[in-house]
Amino acid sequence: MNEVYEFLNKCETYYLATMDGNEPKVRPFGTVALYKGKLYIQTGKSKSVSKQMMSNPRVEICAFDGDTWLRLAATAVNDDDIKAKEFMFEKYPMLKSMYKADDGNTQVLYLTDAVAVFNSFSKPPKTIKF
Ligand SMILES: Cc1cc2nc3c(=O)[nH]c(=O)nc-3n(C[C@H](O)[C@H](O)[C@H](O)COP(=O)(O)O)c2cc1C
Repeated sequence: MNEVYEFLNKCETYYLATMDGNEPKVRPFGTVALYKGKLYIQTGKSKSVSKQMMSNPRVEICAFDGDTWLRLAATAVNDDDIKAKEFMFEKYPMLKSMYKADDGNTQVLYLTDAVAVFNSFSKPPKTIKF
């Protein structure tokens, strides 16, 4: 999981795919935090992306660092622990201008049942499960 976290940090931007009914939706994301041994992302409950994850929690993330790409399939689990939200804001202080941990909108989700595959043109694939 650490390797996945470090890779997403290095890429800074990753692409998060959700399902909107039968339609895939993908958008850029950047938040990622390791908190209490879990990999978290952050969003706002008012966003379509949040509603899609609550309706169908299976997601896929793709990121590319110029050499290696990561495909991470997982289940996104909502966590209303205010400490997890505060931890995210400590890592991304700029979020504090848009969100507050207790605003009823901030959402953090951890990824579970995850299969991460690192690929490049020069190396064999590497799979990590968490
Ligand atoms: C580089 C970059 C990083 C972003 N990171 C996040 C993020 O971590 N969380 C988030 O909720 N939105 C983030 N956004 C904004 C979302 O991409 C945007 O709100 C998107 O419209 C959400 O998807 P939706 O319209 O399907 O709800 C980011 C945007 C950019 C350009």
